[in-house]
Amino acid sequence: MSWTDWIKAFEDDIKEPVGVIMELGCGDGTASLFRFANKVVSLEILDNEENNWLGRTKIPEGANWKSEFFLADGNYEITPKIKSYLSSRLRKYKPDLVFVDCGIHCRGAIVQYLFNKVNIIVSHDTGQNNHEGRKDPYGWELVKPPENYTHKFYTGLGTTIWKYNQNMSGEKLNM
Ligand SMILES: C[S@@+](CC[C@H](N)C(=O)[O-])C[C@H]1O[C@@H](n2cnc3c(N)ncnc32)[C@H](O)[C@@H]1O
Repeated sequence: MSWTDWIKAFEDDIKEPVGVIMELGCGDGTASLFRFANKVVSLEILDNEENNWLGRTKIPEGANWKSEFFLADGNYEITPKIKSYLSSRLRKYKPDLVFVDCGIHCRGAIVQYLFNKVNIIVSHDTGQNNHEGRKDPYGWELVKPPENYTHKFYTGLGTTIWKYNQNMSGEKLNM
């Protein structure tokens, strides 16, 4: 199992490249995202400045990549500042898909925040419920998908893909 086993899930599920992928947390896997989108925006969200991976992330020549560092005021819990930052970036970049793979741990709360705002939400490590002696470190128990989203789980460390189902709600997402 590897940190980048989510690539297999993308290959199985994202058959046509989307316009914009917004990735929360960058690293060795970021380069692969350009196979699934015309543009990738990486938001390196951390609660410390030392582990910033933006400078170490290798991007294919000529790729359409935007990146930002955001210093979060929380790690295991989502805060109003983190929500407000995400909200401004959703408005600015209008992503078709958000990939939640960030260094701060509140991934479940972030996924929950993104429902009804983003068409496709992907998160990694969704099979990890016990890590570093902490139960449910990523907060997956908080994820309660609305009825208008379908989801699929891929094994390995666990990758879950939630998709907005326009037919079920009858209207497009208004971002
Ligand atoms: C699990 S990584 C995932 C990053 C990216 N989506 C990927 O698949 O490569 C989450 C965070 O860990 C840090 N990170 C990235 N690559 C790393 C590595 N090889 N070793 C240690 N930390 C890393 C970065 O701060 C990143 O935001």
